[in-house]
Amino acid sequence: MITYLGKKIATMDDVDLSGKKVLLRVDMNSPVDPKTGRLLDVSRIVEHSATVRELVERGASVVVMSHQGRPLDSDYVDLRGHAEALAKLLGAEVKFAEDVAGPHARALIESARPGEVVMLDNSRFMAEDNVEAPPEKHANGYLVTRLSPLFSYFVNDAFATSHRSQASIVGFPLRIPGVAGRVMERELRALNRVLEIAERPKVFVLGGAKLDDTLKVVKHVVESGIADEVLTTGLVAVMFLMARGTSVPKDVEAKVMSKISSDLFQEAKELAKRQEVKTPVDFVVEREGEVSVAHTSSISGAPKDIGPSTVEYYKDKLARAKLIVMRGPAGVIEDPRFRAGTEALVRTALASKAFTIFGGGHFISMASSLPPEERSKVGHVSTGGGALLYFLSGSVLPGLEALAKSNEKFKIVQ
Ligand code: 3PG
Repeated sequence: MITYLGKKIATMDDVDLSGKKVLLRVDMNSPVDPKTGRLLDVSRIVEHSATVRELVERGASVVVMSHQGRPLDSDYVDLRGHAEALAKLLGAEVKFAEDVAGPHARALIESARPGEVVMLDNSRFMAEDNVEAPPEKHANGYLVTRLSPLFSYFVNDAFATSHRSQASIVGFPLRIPGVAGRVMERELRALNRVLEIAERPKVFVLGGAKLDDTLKVVKHVVESGIADEVLTTGLVAVMFLMARGTSVPKDVEAKVMSKISSDLFQEAKELAKRQEVKTPVDFVVEREGEVSVAHTSSISGAPKDIGPSTVEYYKDKLARAKLIVMRGPAGVIEDPRFRAGTEALVRTALASKAFTIFGGGHFISMASSLPPEERSKVGHVSTGGGALLYFLSGSVLPGLEALAKSNEKFKIVQ
C-alpha cells in the first residue's frame, strides 16, 4: 500500500493475481523517427517490462495498454514495434492486437492464458482516450464499458500519464479494482520524499516542445514559490522570449503559436514579467543547413539548442541549487549537432550538491547513456515529464486520485 495526499492506494502486493486477467496500463509513449516511424528509444518499455515480467511470474494473463503520440503528430503510430521490443526484453511471445477494443483485441483478451502477454494497439486510436473528462463520465464510456467486463484487475503503471483525466487512466479503476504497478509505486515513494526537501534554491530546467503543459506548470511553481528559478530552454524558451517581445523568424513564431492558444500566450506574457523565469541569451541556430550561434536579439534561423553563453549563465545557477528538476531537452538532441547544451546542463547538475531529478522520455534515455558513476548521482529518474512537474507543483493527478477512489470503492486495503 502507498499513500497519495493522505489517501490509500493498493499496490500489486495487496492482491492475489494468480490466474487473473489483468489490464496493465503502461506509458510506453516513446520518441519515434518521423521518417520511418521506428522507435528511437525503448527506455520506458524497459522500465515497464519488469512489471509485466512480475505479473507473468505470478500467473496472471497480462493485457498491456499504452498510448503513443497525439493524433496527427508524426509520433502517432501503432504499437507493433512496442510489442516487438517488449517481447525481446521478456524473451517471450507478446501477441499484438491490431485494435484496442475491437474484435481482434477482444478475441485475444478472451483467449489469453495465465502467463501470456497481449498488447493492445495505441489507446489513443480510440477517440475517448484523447478527451479530458471526469472519471465517472469515462467509466460509462465506450472503451471502458466494453473492456472492463473482461478483466479482474486494473494495474496502473503509467505514472507518466497520471496527469491526464483520460479514459484509459481514470475510467477503468471505477469499474474494476485498480492498483498501482511497480513503476507507479517507485515514482510515488521517491517523489513523496522529494516533497520533504526544504533547502533552497530550487531550480527547474524546463524545455521541450509541450508548451501548454509546461506553461501551466511554470505558472504554478513560480506563483506558489515552489521554484526559485525556472531556466527555460527549447521551444519553451522561444515562447517566453516571444512573450517578452523578442522577434523570431516567422516560421518559428508560427510553430510556437500552433502549439498554444492565444489565451495561454497572454498568460505567458504575464508570467514573462516574473524575474524567476529565465530565458536564454543565445541559441545554436540552423539556417539552410548551416549551423551558427545567434544572440537572442537577432535570431536568424531555427533555434536548435541553447548557445554557449546561455550554458555558462545557466551553469552558474545550477551550481548553487539544492534541488534541480530537469524536464525536456534543451535542444533537438536526436541530432548530435544539437546535444551540447543539454549535456552541459546535465553534467553541471550532477556535479552540484543538489538532489537532481530527471523527468521525461528524453532524460530517461540520457540517464541510461551516462557512465554508472555519473548515473548514480541522479537522485531520481522519473518516467514522467508533465506528470512529474504536475506532481511536484502540488496539482492533483487524476490517475492517482482514481486509484485512491478505486481502493475506497472496492476496499482492497483498509
Ligand atoms: C508524456 O510523455 O509526457 C506522456 O506520455 C503523456 O503524453 P501526452 O502529453 O501526450 O499526454
